[in-house]
Amino acid sequence: MNSTVYNDSDNEFNERNDDTKSPIKDPIDKKYESVASVRETLIEHPAFALGISAVRRCHRMGRFGLEEPGCLLITGVSGSGKSTLRKEYAKHYPRRETDDGTVIPVLHLELPAQPTIKNVAERILIALGDPLFARGSAETMTARIVTLFRNCRVELVILDEFQHFIDNSSEKIETKVADWLKHLVNVTRVPFVLMGLRRCRRILQGNEQLRRRFSRQISLEPFGIADKRSRRIFDTLLRTIFGSLPVTCVPELTSDGDHIEHIHYATYGLMGYVMTLITASVEIVLEEGRPAIDRDVLGRAFSESIWPEGRGRLNPFHARFINRPLTNAGEPFFGYKS
Ligand SMILES: Nc1ncnc2c1ncn2[C@@H]1O[C@H](COP(=O)(O)OP(=O)(O)OP(=O)(O)O)[C@@H](O)[C@H]1O
Ligand SMILES: [Mg+2]
Repeated sequence: MNSTVYNDSDNEFNERNDDTKSPIKDPIDKKYESVASVRETLIEHPAFALGISAVRRCHRMGRFGLEEPGCLLITGVSGSGKSTLRKEYAKHYPRRETDDGTVIPVLHLELPAQPTIKNVAERILIALGDPLFARGSAETMTARIVTLFRNCRVELVILDEFQHFIDNSSEKIETKVADWLKHLVNVTRVPFVLMGLRRCRRILQGNEQLRRRFSRQISLEPFGIADKRSRRIFDTLLRTIFGSLPVTCVPELTSDGDHIEHIHYATYGLMGYVMTLITASVEIVLEEGRPAIDRDVLGRAFSESIWPEGRGRLNPFHARFINRPLTNAGEPFFGYKS
């Protein structure tokens, strides 16, 4: 994966590129390879770096087997980059086979929808590589988890999609599973990082014991443009991405403040949508042999890849755009306001 390092202190970026020379010769495949490489580029923006260092702190303390390991909750709206952060952190601590058996320093997984103690335990056992993952009662499964954590020398657990512990429509919290999770933290003495949509904070509000263990909380917020500092950060992010593309962009894209606003309207400042918009723009330029990404290309990329109804005045790149966030019912960012 390519990695673009965001260095906000001096507004410059170092680029790391792990790619070796590509074996792909077909020019059409080459184009798609370029599009895929844009999608795969990791941007180490400031909030991402903060998230990584918060997880690292948790992990370091976890190596001491403290009786009450410090746990962490990371929340953020969909597309803010939680799972990307999880996978990127875990990538640096891969599972390995040794003479003493399998070592899994960082165990990470997605929690199931409609969790029960058994199906969560099962997911954990699968991630640990237990071939008999579905066997036994909840108690015996829990005991196997504890043993395997010790044998596989698990130092950190990251559980994604924690909002599944709260039912979206009935707001019912899976109290029994939450209590079991607290028990697991206690008996394994391994720090847990939970990740999920913002509503999962309510699970902790309703469970004081879990809340105390997860008193450290951070959120991955969308990029803002309301004040000078956030605007500068978003501007730097866009310059970094535009500067690393395999196609050129018209100069206005990196110099004109208006474009920052329109791209923000088109993406709500969310990494997921920023990457979708830009990848789709690169695809249009390569497919149609256009000279560069311009406002027209961005407008088409928006309606083709983010919101099909986003045409005319509902398209942030249209000259007569309505100039407001697209957060009304039926619009792409409905429900994203905190
Ligand atoms: N730091 C980043 N650098 C590059 N791309 C990113 C980054 N963070 C997120 N993305 C892109 O945004 C997309 C959405 O990110 P991700 O899946 O991590 O969000 P999420 O917060 O887990 O969303 P959800 O709550 O829906 O699961 C990813 O597919 C990835 O392409
Ligand atoms: Mg996710």
